[in-house]
Amino acid sequence: MKAKFITIEGIEGAGKSTQLDFIQKYLSDQGQSLTVTREPGGTELGEQIRELLLTPRPQGMAVDTELLLMFAARAEHVEQVINPALERGEWVLSDRFTDATFAYQGGGRGIAQQRITDIAEWTLKGLQPDLTLLFDLPVEVGQQRVLSRNEGIDRFEQEKVDFFQRIKECYLERAKHAPKRIKVIDANQSIADIQAQLASILDRLLVA
Ligand code: TMP
Repeated sequence: MKAKFITIEGIEGAGKSTQLDFIQKYLSDQGQSLTVTREPGGTELGEQIRELLLTPRPQGMAVDTELLLMFAARAEHVEQVINPALERGEWVLSDRFTDATFAYQGGGRGIAQQRITDIAEWTLKGLQPDLTLLFDLPVEVGQQRVLSRNEGIDRFEQEKVDFFQRIKECYLERAKHAPKRIKVIDANQSIADIQAQLASILDRLLVA
């Protein structure tokens, strides 16, 4: 069976980390070895780029710089981590991937989707997730969860409600056009309900 590439997406506060732990445990209980990683990041250089991207900076960052840094980190991640793992036959679970660029830099920052498609074709050479789990919830609920964490706020979390609203809509639009790959999960349900839904999606992938 071909190794599968799974990605997790959603706006801030969608509960990705809790669900990532569940997915990791669920798959390893089924005997599936797994590389767990994240974007931006996942490599030493990628984590340094993450730091550049997330650190709040009063002077701002050009939107094209942001886009190119995301793909610079991703090129490294694909070459050093994702492709080698898939070639070894190991499944990969990544907390975010290219859908996040379409949603954040495209929907959020207003960069043309075609420009992102062009860079994605150039850097990814056809690599696509087999399954994307999109955790969806009202923007206000996500923002409250971020604030209640009582941790520092990063450069993206500083943005206003309408920025996240555009991101949410862009994610949902992408899901509408790729319903087989992108599964939308209502992140506002109980954790037990979310996990039951995840288990049934993962069971289908395990036999696919
Ligand atoms: P995280 O908080 O889920 O770890 O993600 C870090 C931030 O980076 C989050 O605000 C989303 C943002 N991001 C983009 O804007 N574009 C991308 O391509 C990726 C992977 C993340």
